[in-house]
Amino acid sequence: MPRTLTLLGLESSCDDTAAAVVQRDETGVANVLSNVVVGQNDLHKAFGGVVPEIAARAHAEKIDHCVENALHKAGVTLDDVDAIAVTAGPGLIGGVMSGVMCAKGLAAATRKPLIGVNHLAGHALTPRLTDDPAYPYLMLLVSGGHCQFLIARGPTDFSRIGGTIDDAPGEAFDKTARLLGLAQPGGPAVQNEADLGDPKRFRFPRPMLDREGCDMSFSGLKTAVLRARNDVMVDQKIRIQDVRDLCAGFQSAVVDVLAEKTRRALTLYLAEAPEFPALAVAGGVAANTAIRAKLESVCAEMNITFTAPPLALCTDNAAMIAYAGLELFEAGQRDGMDLVARPRWPLDSASAPMLGSGKKGAKA
Ligand code: KG4
Ligand code: ZN
Repeated sequence: MPRTLTLLGLESSCDDTAAAVVQRDETGVANVLSNVVVGQNDLHKAFGGVVPEIAARAHAEKIDHCVENALHKAGVTLDDVDAIAVTAGPGLIGGVMSGVMCAKGLAAATRKPLIGVNHLAGHALTPRLTDDPAYPYLMLLVSGGHCQFLIARGPTDFSRIGGTIDDAPGEAFDKTARLLGLAQPGGPAVQNEADLGDPKRFRFPRPMLDREGCDMSFSGLKTAVLRARNDVMVDQKIRIQDVRDLCAGFQSAVVDVLAEKTRRALTLYLAEAPEFPALAVAGGVAANTAIRAKLESVCAEMNITFTAPPLALCTDNAAMIAYAGLELFEAGQRDGMDLVARPRWPLDSASAPMLGSGKKGAKA
């Protein structure tokens, strides 16, 4: 029986400052004891996107309060913690450095092990925190900065079999919201309006469905939304029903592309691992109910087990970093005071680098 392990996790790679405590008991069940996330939407609102310097300063100001709060909510002290896990990349470098410096300080002061975690691995391992699927499984990681299909074989063993060649879907949601005068982050705002719109009125392109494989492209969609918006605007104004129909048309294009590319990714994955028919989805866009429902039905069609973490664990959080840290700790990883913050850190270094660099930093 494994002993109880308690990990403190820190996350600061984009615009959420977060700290969490995750504990795995001696029966092997992992529990989130606390999950503190302080967002920065208000700070960036006026700029229409995340401003790296503002983000870094806010992380530096908030991270130690988040840690205190997370320990307090979990009912533990630093003495009870077995190791300190921190996002060491990829992300906006100033933010990642804030977290790494804080974690190093804590590790040095308490003499606890320090574990640098890849933010993408945090997302990709979240299903194991919530549902404990065995390795391997196919992962669709879909967020504001990332979109990729990964075969997860272990906490440091991932193969990327496809992904976006330009924007991530979350970026497309955010840009569409901006074009239509909706609030940021755009995903939830676009989803709410789409629920009240007609998805058939505007027929937006489904990019790259004519190409083999499971690479995707989302940057053309926002241009299509821009054109359609300009066509329906009168005196620089847009009617609310037009906004809703545009949102519904846009969302349905994203849903169709993700569904078809997921079918193809599953087919590729099953050729390698037919005895493990499992798909997990994570990242902020996995919070979208239309996307979740469609992926669930694709999996049902193909007899695949579908796992989607609860919404609070889909968007950026530190519980996923603490959990990934836990698996890495058990695998023997220990980092020293020379741990570096990395703006880019592909999960699968054997695959060619992805193109493009979005508002949320370089795509790994
Ligand atoms: O994973 P995340 O918190 O941050 C990273 O990008 O790493 O994802 C944030 C992204 C934003 O672009 C946001 O608009 C999108 O996830 N998002 C959604 C929804 N909720 C959040 N996109 C579509 N539908 C949603 N309900
Ligand atoms: Zn993320």
